[in-house]
Amino acid sequence: MRHGLCVGGVWGLLAAAGLAMVSVSTPARADKPHVPLTPGVGVGEIYAGHSVVRVAPNTNRQMLATLNLAESIWSERVGMGPFDIQVSPQARGALDELGIRYDVLIDDVQALVDNERLRIAQQPAFAVDRDAPHDPAFYDEYKNSDQIFTYLTALANNRPEVATQFVIGQTNQGQDIPAFELSGPDAPGNARDDRPVILWQFGAHAREWVSPMTGAFHADRLIELYGQDQQVTALLDQLRIVIVPVLNVDGYDYSWTNVRLWRKNRRNNGNGTFGVDLNRNFAHEWGGTGSSGSTSSDIYRGPTPFSEPETRAMRDLMLVTYADDVVAHIDYHNYSQLILWPWGYSVVDVPEPDRTFFENLGVAMSSAMLSTNGVFYDPIQSADLYEAAGDSTDWFYNEGAMSLTIELRDTGANGFLLPANQIRPTAEEMFVGSLLFAETAGLPARASFDTLPAVVEAGQINMLPVSLTDGREQIDPATALVYTSVGGAPFQSAPLAVSAESYLATLPVVACGETIEFYLEAQTTEGSTLRSPLAGAAAPYSADALETTLAFSDDMETDTGWTVGAPGDTATSGVWTRMDPQATQAQPADDRSPSGTQAWITDGRAGSSVGTYDIDGGATTLTSPALDALGGTGDATLTYWRWYSNDQGANPASDSMQVEISGDDGATWSTLETVSDNANAWVFREFNVADFVTPTSTVRVRFVASDLNGGSIVEAGVDDLALVFRGCSVGYDPDLNGDGSLDFFDVLAYLGQFDAMDPAADLSAPFGTFDFFDVLEFLAAFDGA
Ligand code: ARG
Ligand code: ZN
Repeated sequence: MRHGLCVGGVWGLLAAAGLAMVSVSTPARADKPHVPLTPGVGVGEIYAGHSVVRVAPNTNRQMLATLNLAESIWSERVGMGPFDIQVSPQARGALDELGIRYDVLIDDVQALVDNERLRIAQQPAFAVDRDAPHDPAFYDEYKNSDQIFTYLTALANNRPEVATQFVIGQTNQGQDIPAFELSGPDAPGNARDDRPVILWQFGAHAREWVSPMTGAFHADRLIELYGQDQQVTALLDQLRIVIVPVLNVDGYDYSWTNVRLWRKNRRNNGNGTFGVDLNRNFAHEWGGTGSSGSTSSDIYRGPTPFSEPETRAMRDLMLVTYADDVVAHIDYHNYSQLILWPWGYSVVDVPEPDRTFFENLGVAMSSAMLSTNGVFYDPIQSADLYEAAGDSTDWFYNEGAMSLTIELRDTGANGFLLPANQIRPTAEEMFVGSLLFAETAGLPARASFDTLPAVVEAGQINMLPVSLTDGREQIDPATALVYTSVGGAPFQSAPLAVSAESYLATLPVVACGETIEFYLEAQTTEGSTLRSPLAGAAAPYSADALETTLAFSDDMETDTGWTVGAPGDTATSGVWTRMDPQATQAQPADDRSPSGTQAWITDGRAGSSVGTYDIDGGATTLTSPALDALGGTGDATLTYWRWYSNDQGANPASDSMQVEISGDDGATWSTLETVSDNANAWVFREFNVADFVTPTSTVRVRFVASDLNGGSIVEAGVDDLALVFRGCSVGYDPDLNGDGSLDFFDVLAYLGQFDAMDPAADLSAPFGTFDFFDVLEFLAAFDGA
């Protein structure tokens, strides 16, 4: 399934299914007995025997029966497609009886909750060193609200020039809701109070524990990296970032002490039920689809818009505290790995140019996050997931802030009970996305390179496409300049060229082996200066100039000598086949090549259902022909496009594809990558062969895809594999002693330079290091001369 999870709402789906808005809401939980307990000790057996299952009802009747049986709905998307529900043992039995098929995501919710409690109880006592509060181990385990606030207060107190703590309001139960304003100190002409404000809001939903931890990480990193990291420093010199680490303090506490899977705040509704869903209580289109008027519902919207002090506190940040200064907002939830833009109340699009802005932003964040840990976040419009009125993002966007809702990890394997060892990687990848968001939505406009090559072509002019994207302010394209510096010389500027579609930055001709540094600068009509990267000349982009030669390329249209099968392969279906794939939920409709139709695919037939021709019963191996990684100048680079899907059906995310490389014609293998991201797209990868094996003339690559763990839907594909060489050949004269003949004395002279680490001997990237490949490069020139 592509999307899951976070709420318990069924209204939108009932409407979508054309059904009357009958009173199907998640069962009340407030009336369960609550034993007040010591945090970390235990909460009783309120989930005894419960499991979380993924169901995919295929009739309205089945769907209604399923919803009636659900103890709690974990998915946000509920409908004819798959969704996740928590069920009691009785309800699970009833599903069996009704013949409604399901896959088990979590067999024993109580066991996971108990394990978590036990683990937390066994933690060493929490202590903060007030003089050096930063502690990476903070993210090894979940922390309660006191611990989070104590930690962040210590960090902020330790760097008052960057961080200011304040209180944005009080909860229903009268607890303070803290916030942290992060920005560089006042500078001449750049007062802190004049800078645009970005709001990052965490922990609106109590049970989504990875959200406050991610919020703490964001504040921690910004405080720590200001003055150390150029990007963060430049950002905080231009923006104020305000972090609310735990908005729903009462609910969060309650999920620690009483009901682990509590979602709402703790308002006493007066009729024996408790809680308002803060993310249905914002005023824009309040009361519409996907919110409930029933006080017991998990998506109870409250009696009036902004009835809750917690949502009012967010509103007042926008309208009072930072009136007219808030330009962007993010609301962080889990789970499902999504980047959601407005509108959420309805599938109508926001007007242009915002729609395109959000789509580009979402895709850029997703790819930056994917490259952090290989975990994919799907960027889509909020209401395409599910219509839900009264959420924070709709309100902030309607008030003029660019706003997103994020769903953090995972995609359902653990849901709200995300293992603690995923806190740090989740927070890390999100921080990368959040910084990109701050640059894109926070700054007055954006001048940026569309792609950032690590290597440019030596000896010729390189043109890099550039985007000038208006934001709150408009860019004057005539002011846009690219600054370049070759080999450490002073920066020179040049105006951009204009092509039919885009702007192009022209880089000067660079000799092979040199490094070019570059950055972009432009002015808005209101006089703001934009730079990419933000730090400009202080930390420019850089690329090595090399010659590229294509030695081998295979678009899979003909058989160039691939082998299917290896010892240990036991797959009974879904074996690698070279063919034109047929679309399924897990498999591409087309090969990757711009022309042609064929790709290697794990049986590309669609069949009657997604599971007909996917991999079953073990591994299937595809091995490339032998490639000559010595047959060119410079570093042999392997590139390919691959497809991988393991998020449909049972046991999602339990398998992976190993991509391996051999330097000895297949005798031994090293891992290139372990693929487990579900991009639902062809993904480009490139690897420097020498980083993995010693290059030889018989390098092979193999793709081992398998279904090992409990039967799941696995599909894989490979297309457009190539071997390119990047290095410097021309202009290098191996006659080092200049006597007109190439002999042993030239070799000796080279080795002398090499030993002395003379740049003249540095013939192979990465430049600045002297290794075997420099020698190989010299010998190639010596042989070829
Ligand atoms: N899980 C979040 C919630 O239910 C996401 C809301 C996103 N908004 C939407 N309209 N789908 O509150
Ligand atoms: Zn949520």
